[in-house]
Order: sequence, then C-alpha cells, then structure tokens
Amino acid sequence: MAENTDTATLTIKGKTYELPVHSPSGGPDVIDIRKLYGQADVFTYDPGFTSTAACDSTITYIDGEKGELLHRGYPIEQLAGKSHYLEVCYLLLYGELPSAEELETFENLVTNHTMIHEQMHMFFRGFRRDAHPMATMVGVIGAMSAFYHDSTDINDAHQREVASIRLIAKMPTIAAMAYKYSIGQPFVYPRNDLDYAANFLHMCFAVPAEEYNVNPILSRAMDRIFTLHADHEQNASTSTVRLASSSGANPFACIAAGIACLWGPAHGGANQACLEMLKEIGTVDRIPEFIARAKDKNDNYRLMGFGHRVYKNFDPRATVMKESADEVLDLLGVENNPILQVAKELEKQALADPYFAEKKLFPNVDFYSGIILEAMGFPTSMFTPVFALARTVGWISQWKEQLADPQLKIGRPRQLYLGEMARDYVDIEKR
Ligand code: CMC
Repeated sequence: MAENTDTATLTIKGKTYELPVHSPSGGPDVIDIRKLYGQADVFTYDPGFTSTAACDSTITYIDGEKGELLHRGYPIEQLAGKSHYLEVCYLLLYGELPSAEELETFENLVTNHTMIHEQMHMFFRGFRRDAHPMATMVGVIGAMSAFYHDSTDINDAHQREVASIRLIAKMPTIAAMAYKYSIGQPFVYPRNDLDYAANFLHMCFAVPAEEYNVNPILSRAMDRIFTLHADHEQNASTSTVRLASSSGANPFACIAAGIACLWGPAHGGANQACLEMLKEIGTVDRIPEFIARAKDKNDNYRLMGFGHRVYKNFDPRATVMKESADEVLDLLGVENNPILQVAKELEKQALADPYFAEKKLFPNVDFYSGIILEAMGFPTSMFTPVFALARTVGWISQWKEQLADPQLKIGRPRQLYLGEMARDYVDIEKR
C-alpha cells in the first residue's frame, strides 16, 4: 500500500472526518475510504466504478490522457515491437524481464503443459456443434478444476504456480479445440516444436489429411495480437476474476468467470461486433448513415471498436494494431481489402466529427484486430476466444498478486437501497 501523503476532510451533517490520501507512482491520488462506514455510517456510491480504485497493483499502468500503457513500466509499443508474448507473460507474472536462461526455462515449462487431459475430449463432445466457442470455453475452463485437482489449492504456492502455467499453456489448445469442434473437424494435438503463436495457428488450421506449414508472418502477427491483449489493469473481466478469487474460489473457476465477463460486446466481444458492423456498413458511401445512428440520442446504436473508459486521446494498442493490419494484409496480398477501406474511412470521418471529438471517442484495440484475424482465416466467432487466450496471463498475474496480499478481504460491495422497507406478507386471496 502506498504511503499516506495527505488527508482529505469530509464533512457530513456538521461532523468532520479525516481520510488518508495515498499517492500512487502514477495516476491520480486515492482517497482511502475503508474506515468511512465504521466512522461515519455512510457508504460511497459509484456504480460502474468510475471513481473507485478497487485494489492496489504493480502490474499495469494506463495514462488515459497520454494514451500510455505500461506493463511493469515497459511501454506497450516497445513490447509489441521488440519482445514477444511469452516474454511478456514472464514479465507480467514475475515483475521483471527474464534473462535468456530464465526465458528458456519458462518457455519449456509452458510448452510441456500444452496437452489437455484426454478425457476432456469427451467433455467437448457434450456441447452442441453450433455452440459459440466462447460458450464452450467458459464451460471447459471451468471444468479444468474437475480434471486438475492437484492445482486447485490456492493456499499452496506450488499449486498456484502449476495452475498458472497450466492455464497459459492449455488455453490455446482449448480455444483451438472449441473452434475445431464448432466446424466439425478433428482436434489437432499441440506441437511442441512450434512457438506459442505458431502452435495455436497449427491447432486451428491444420487437418490430419495433409501437411500444414505455419506462415511465419502470420505467426508473428498472431504473437503481436496476443501481446497487445495480455493485460489491461482493472477492466471488467479482470475485476471479475479478482472478485471471484476474493472468496477463495479455485483458479480455473476464477478464469472461467473472467472469460464469461469478457464475452460481452462492451468488452472483449467488441472485436466480433466490430467486424460484423464493418461488414454491415459494407461500402464507404454508407458510413454517414451509421455515424448518424451512433450520434442519435434516441437510438442506442454505438460504433463498435470506438470509445474507452480510460483512454481519452487514443488507445496505443489500436495504433500498433492498425500498422499490423496494413502489414498483414499487404503480405497476404489482400491490399484493397474493402473492409479495411471501410474501417479507415469510418475512423477518418468519426474523428472529424464534433460528436466523437467532444466525447473523446477514438478507435480502441478491437477496431482493427478483427480485420487481421479474418485475413488469417478466423471466423468472427473466434475473435473473442483469441482475446480470452491472450488475456489469460493478465488475469492470472492479477489473481496471483491479489492472493499474495495479506490484507485480502472478500469483495462485497454495498448498495443504495431504494426498494420497499419491511411490510407484512399478504395472503394471495387478499391481493
Ligand atoms: N459510439 C457512439 N457513442 C458512444 C460510444 C460509441 N462507441 N461509446 C461511448 N459513446 C457515448 C455514449 O453514448 C455517452 O454519451 P452521453 O454522454 O451523451 O450519454 C458517452 O459517449 C460516454 O459513454 P459511456 O458509455 O458513459 O462510456 P463508458 O466509459 O461507460 O463506456 C465503452 C466505454 C468502451 C463501454 C463504450 O465506449 C462502448 O460501448 N464502446 C463500444 C464497445 C467497444 O468498442 N468496446 C471495447 C472496449 S476496448 C477493449 C476492451 O476493453 O475489451
């Protein structure tokens, strides 16, 4: 916990309370209200947590005004350009960049856990073929606690470590299996001679009937997509994982809760929703019609892939993603992709529109990611599973950090109750 640097004075009904103020290493000061209820018998009210810090953390920092995203202090642009996903995983989990030897050990560890319990194949078969891969993933990740009992004791540091590695290692296998199942193709086992991203592409796109060679350009782009999604401090799904974990739930149950939350279109589901929107727009001449709808107060339509709770200038992940989209489509020989053209023109027109400027709405990470994923051959239903796979390390790092906090308390928000107070039950014949 940060040092108190100041105090805030709060006066309620003529009585004054002194509240400690903590100074973080970055971001606004934080008023500590933990003792407020006990002292003043009041709650604070902040639905949507717009002004509430729910925990302290040393993992990820975002400066929304500057468009800055740091993992353990390292800017996302440098990590996306110079590092790779498993190194970023190490950084998020353990706090420092690894030495060459540490990285090799970590990569070997993850690689040695990529297979899943064979009996889980049967578990997949219980789902309908047309199930959304996210629905399958919520179920299968939750079910890992039924298959890996030896890593569910959160009080055992070794078990926590094993669960972390298992989740990072098996998530690509499970996401690829959810995809293969949905298209009726046989599951493809992991290949430990391939790197993390290449292995995922192989499990998604190889078939037993023929040789499949992963295009190194695509595996590099895939790895960068993973890196860009690895963590994002206390977003909705991460907060869900932390809340689930605060009760002492096992890691697989907590990550399944995070996946369920991520699925929503306001969060990770936006990548699927965004590509569907771009396709619905179809041609650049229809853009003004969609912008008008997004601005209409009487229409709850939103431009998907636009806006962010924290970024109020630009999303640095979107900048890298846009460059990647250009690069990948170019390398695949799909320049003049009509959807990319719609996306670029939509971005241009929206940014020039006073509505979006005033509300500080900019393209977010989900705006361009779908275009790359589709060019790689993924159907839209796989976009959010890719996000879930990549975010797993962030959820786990935050989960581990929370469990290491000696002051951990169960998360239990209070409410502003506006319902009826006690009244007598009325028998049905008298109502
Ligand atoms: N299109 C049109 N108007 C918008 C949009 C949008 N995409 N986003 C926000 N607004 C308007 C909103 O109507 C509101 O206007 P008013 O003040 O007149 O009521 C104002 O901007 C503020 O919006 P908000 O909903 O109060 O802002 P928020 O911080 O609660 O929501 C958000 C952030 C990301 C949920 C929202 O911008 C949104 O729904 N965007 C579309 C979905 C999306 O792309 N989500 C991915 C987020 S990034 C990846 C991730 O975190 O998973």
